[in-house]
Amino acid sequence: MTAGSITADVRFDEPDFYLGDPHPTFARLRREDPVHWYAGGPFWVITKFEDIRFISKHPELFSSANIAILGDIVKIRDGLPRPPRDSVLFLDPPEHLEHRRVISRELTPAHVNAIEGTVRDIVSDALDQVPDAPFDAITTLAEPIPVNVFSGLLGVPQDDWQRVVRWSTAISNSGGGGETPETMAAMYAEVVPYLEALLEERHANPGNDYLSIIASATVDEKPLTPTQVVWWAISLLAAGSETTQSLIAGMLYAMSQAPEQTRRILTDADTLAAPTVEETLRWWTPVASMARQATTDVRLRGATIRAGDAVLLAYVSGNRDEEEWGDDADEWSVDRAPTGHLAFGFAEHFCLGAHLARREGTMLIREMARRWTGIELVSPPIRRRSALMTTFDRLELRFTR
Ligand code: HEM
Repeated sequence: MTAGSITADVRFDEPDFYLGDPHPTFARLRREDPVHWYAGGPFWVITKFEDIRFISKHPELFSSANIAILGDIVKIRDGLPRPPRDSVLFLDPPEHLEHRRVISRELTPAHVNAIEGTVRDIVSDALDQVPDAPFDAITTLAEPIPVNVFSGLLGVPQDDWQRVVRWSTAISNSGGGGETPETMAAMYAEVVPYLEALLEERHANPGNDYLSIIASATVDEKPLTPTQVVWWAISLLAAGSETTQSLIAGMLYAMSQAPEQTRRILTDADTLAAPTVEETLRWWTPVASMARQATTDVRLRGATIRAGDAVLLAYVSGNRDEEEWGDDADEWSVDRAPTGHLAFGFAEHFCLGAHLARREGTMLIREMARRWTGIELVSPPIRRRSALMTTFDRLELRFTR
């Protein structure tokens, strides 16, 4: 059987494919058809670690201007309206770097160190809510921790944090085909004026939160346009919480499936918290893919990607590539301590929030280690219906002492 026939029924743009187990299909593609043309997309599915790095490293050959995520390809194909492209995700060099600088200096390791106490308090407060009984780890831990950390940094008033959860879930669901255009239009009709008002207020009375920084930012000595300001804020809202929600969900799930490793992690968290987070990022891959559009014809492993073609960078596959990670790439192992995985992307658009997300993950492990020694899965978890985000809607666990 050829890779073509095994993938004939696979819809790489549909949540259902990701809800099942996509890994055997990706493994087959990596072996037999690593640069795979998916006519139903239409787009190329790039499954090898090195090829994803190559494409990410060459924005002059593969642009983000029009296509940065799977949802962009689908919307163009289906003639659906798209939000403005005015965000850092959709910029190419040379403009891109200047726009990244608006926020990148706020997210360095030194800045993350400076807010460590706040992160610890938020994690500890969330852990205080864990009962001595089964509980849903999504609503108790995975959702509130990143939203509370991030809404504070962003400068959203605390009364509105629940709305932030709802918006950021909808934005990331829409990127993965999980929301209708009507729902999204209604959501943007709510979120855009909300942010406009907040940004205006911060412009007049700046604090040291991200909204204030964006509201007063200049690029090449010119202020950002009002649309750019709002879309910077929306991008941060979308990027900052759902992704880390997924990391926490994936990590707790992986730990519940590996009691022996979990016992070790929770008895030696100082050493093992960081490798646990890194291995989860590799194995779980919160953001399953990003996308690009070829600017010119490019030959890759014998295939010709034509100018204008879309490519899907399947991080979820590259992070299990046996050639990079070995024959046990499908195993979650805290001893692997992987470096250079693709969970945060690579090169030009590498995630600006990586240090912060890592810190939230390691802090969670360290604080858990002060209270518990084990994690049990209580019922089968419910996966989020998304082709973009790897996560759960419900994850029922019990922590044991
Ligand atoms: C585990 C958590 C996270 C994961 C897995 C993640 C993943 C990613 C990925 C895959 C990209 C795109 C990379 C590319 O196209 O090459 C990205 C970009 C980005 N992320 Fe994250 N992210 C996480 C957390 C965060 C947080 C907490 C923030 C905000 C503080 C953030 C802000 C951004 C921004 C602004 C970009 C756009 C960068 C650019 O286009 O230059 N992310 N992230």
